[in-house]
Amino acid sequence: MARTRKTRSKIEFGDFQTPPDLAEKVCHTLLRQGVSPRAILEPNCGRGNLLIAALETFPHAQKAVGVEINDDYVREATQRLRELSPTAETDIIHGDFFVVDWESILSSLPPPILIIGNPPWVTNAELGRIESANLPEKSNIQKISGIDAITGKSNFDISEWMIIRELEWLQNRDSSLAVLCKTSVARKALLHAWKNNFRLSRAMIFNIDAAIHFGAAVNACLLIVVTEGDAHIQTCQIYTSLKDYQPQNTIGYRDGRLIADIQRYERWKHLQGHNAHYQWRSGVKHDAAQIMELTPDGERFRNGLGEQVELEPTFLYPMYKGSEIAHGAQSPTRWMLIPQKTVAANTREIQLTAPKTWQYLLAHAAQLDARKSAIYRNRPRFSIFGVGDYTFAPWKVAISGFYKFLRFRVVGPWQDKPVVFDDTSYFLACKSEEEAVFLAQLLNSKPAQEFYSAFVFWDAKRPVTISLLKLLNIQALARELGMEDVYQSFQNGSSQKHATQMMLSL
Ligand SMILES: C[S@@+](CC[C@H](N)C(=O)[O-])C[C@H]1O[C@@H](n2cnc3c(N)ncnc32)[C@H](O)[C@@H]1O
Repeated sequence: MARTRKTRSKIEFGDFQTPPDLAEKVCHTLLRQGVSPRAILEPNCGRGNLLIAALETFPHAQKAVGVEINDDYVREATQRLRELSPTAETDIIHGDFFVVDWESILSSLPPPILIIGNPPWVTNAELGRIESANLPEKSNIQKISGIDAITGKSNFDISEWMIIRELEWLQNRDSSLAVLCKTSVARKALLHAWKNNFRLSRAMIFNIDAAIHFGAAVNACLLIVVTEGDAHIQTCQIYTSLKDYQPQNTIGYRDGRLIADIQRYERWKHLQGHNAHYQWRSGVKHDAAQIMELTPDGERFRNGLGEQVELEPTFLYPMYKGSEIAHGAQSPTRWMLIPQKTVAANTREIQLTAPKTWQYLLAHAAQLDARKSAIYRNRPRFSIFGVGDYTFAPWKVAISGFYKFLRFRVVGPWQDKPVVFDDTSYFLACKSEEEAVFLAQLLNSKPAQEFYSAFVFWDAKRPVTISLLKLLNIQALARELGMEDVYQSFQNGSSQKHATQMMLSL
């Protein structure tokens, strides 16, 4: 019982205290970057590890304030500061971030101020699950303009909200901010600052190993932001570790978009644009893999529930899962039951054309009818999504969304049927093998790879998305590679042979 209470409170308050050795490394990184504060503020100071490391690293600081919601930690941090007896005047305040009068604390601190911290690692959804109120008041979230990074979403990190507040505090004073947080949170906070044209003279992200320091399986970092003078820079240098002196690359904000690699973006941005002739598509969405995906079992099939079933071939198509596309499987080992040719198609005709298939669907109707997604509501029974002419195109160029590389694969028909994909993959439908080979050649070229990698954050759960794929104008890419005439020949249907000859001559 006591253990459960402890775990709950750890979740509720995102209580992962910074280990002293990491706190020390964070402060040395700040020192190396020329940070030299006269005041230090730790808005969620916990036991005081970061505050103490900062006081030891910056002995000329005149004042240091910590705020913390947990009164045991307040007592502990107060005691530790007493023992340290720094030259700076120190104060640990028992308070809630969401109600503390920050302006009066900030105005009592001599600039430049270093705001240092490790805000709670918890999302509002997690807080909702445990019925916690450790959140900003709803009215407070809405009151603050430009919080589009937060209000529009059903799930957000509490630390994101706090870091954005802290960035706002820097707006009218020359100061620095140094926070440990998830890397995704650091990027969202920066995006908010860039979108809203915050004053900002330097931004750096130093990756840290959260598994080692916090036992957490998440990409985490030290985000440092400096405000000096009137600079409004919109870039952030990325360092692989706290030890690094040279950044690995630079992310930033360009043309209303978060960019993963500014250098590559500047080099290849002319390839951006709408595709007049091709449309990226997602694989089939059915939310019922156990029923709709089958493996051959002798003359019959076996579904994901382990049942052996007999079905007509009419609605069955060979399929690849995203992992098979990513790893270049040689031939399909599964089949997908696709009861519709288009999303609006009536499924009742299956009773007549394929009675065994209809019986199979009816036998699993309870599970199919209970699919949660709203997209299945008011649709023909046993509907699926992401289906149209393109699904049945014989040749495709496909990529999986979940892998940390960009490899486009040509997929052709198998056993005289088009191969289909599940909804973790994306593809372009092609009329012929030559067209698919040509498009894959373009998309796997260095310019295309560099173009896409300018936008991809590889630590995202699904790094490759349809909106990423759509950014590249394939015709502009063909032009870049000196193959626009081949591209055109596929569009105006001029003989396939002609296109093939041109490809061979390249
Ligand atoms: C990730 S821990 C970090 C503690 C400390 N900053 C450090 O680096 O060691 C987050 C801290 O935030 C505190 N906290 C959580 N919610 C808070 C709130 N609403 N106001 C103030 N502190 C809060 C927790 O009690 C916890 O000590």
